[in-house]
Amino acid sequence: MSLSCHLLFCLAAVSAFAMSPPHMWTKLILTHHWPNTFCTMEFCHHPNISYWTLHGLWPDKGITCNASWHFNSSEIEDLLPDMEKYWPDLLKPASSSFWKYEWYKHGTCAAKATSLNSQHKYFSKALELYHKVDLDSILRRFDIIPSEKYYKFSQIEDVVENFYGVKPKIQCVHPSKNTDAQLLGQMEICFSPDFSLLDCEKEMISTGGSAFSVCDPDVPVYYPPL
Ligand SMILES: *[C@@H]1O[C@H](CO)[C@@H](O)[C@H](O)[C@H]1NC(C)=O
Ligand SMILES: *[C@@H]1O[C@H](CO)[C@@H](O)[C@H](O)[C@H]1NC(C)=O
Ligand SMILES: *[C@@H]1O[C@H](CO)[C@@H](O)[C@H](O)[C@H]1NC(C)=O
Repeated sequence: MSLSCHLLFCLAAVSAFAMSPPHMWTKLILTHHWPNTFCTMEFCHHPNISYWTLHGLWPDKGITCNASWHFNSSEIEDLLPDMEKYWPDLLKPASSSFWKYEWYKHGTCAAKATSLNSQHKYFSKALELYHKVDLDSILRRFDIIPSEKYYKFSQIEDVVENFYGVKPKIQCVHPSKNTDAQLLGQMEICFSPDFSLLDCEKEMISTGGSAFSVCDPDVPVYYPPL
């Protein structure tokens, strides 16, 4: 292999490298949650949703990267019908406080990449990835449906991993009273900065700040129906 290369190509390669700042995120985590599990922990006003909804799109580095970049729902007006349906605030359905929170905490960090450097780009990309992944349909198609019967954790993990060809991070709620099962709660699918699928890491710094933790592969999984 020749070490020489075309001047323009080399310049492009060098500048692409130089343009990526050291604290830039390298992975995006598309987080879905199962409303019925979430609503066992919180007082929901929106308990009647029977599909996986968006929790957020989280870069793997940075929290609240620009607190002066205010959330403004007018900038995503065209997205609001989709946002309300697929990214609902399960606690306060009529408010935009969940989106505002996600924007400050994660969106302002994601926005370090030019591909996501506006509220419209950030929220529309999250919705686009959510629709592409189409987790809810994939689970149904492979017979992972909310049920009174318990699943083996590997049944669920295998479906997701085999279908997408990457490792998801699957989180459960571990009720203290009931020790014979864990509740399926959250599912993360990861992307590279160019939005191709990537393995998630199981032991990633907790960005969710919630009661979810990685499911125990040896404990039966309850996927609670409505
Ligand atoms: C829950 O949703 C189902 C299907 O969308 C609907 O038929 C039902 O009336 C809803 N129940 C409540 C309490 O809103
Ligand atoms: C933070 O966001 C504001 C509003 O968009 C912008 O004017 C400012 O340059 C940003 N600051 C940094 C450090 O990126
Ligand atoms: C919110 O966004 C709209 C549309 O981009 C803009 O006209 C308006 O000035 C913004 N409001 C604030 C408070 O920045």
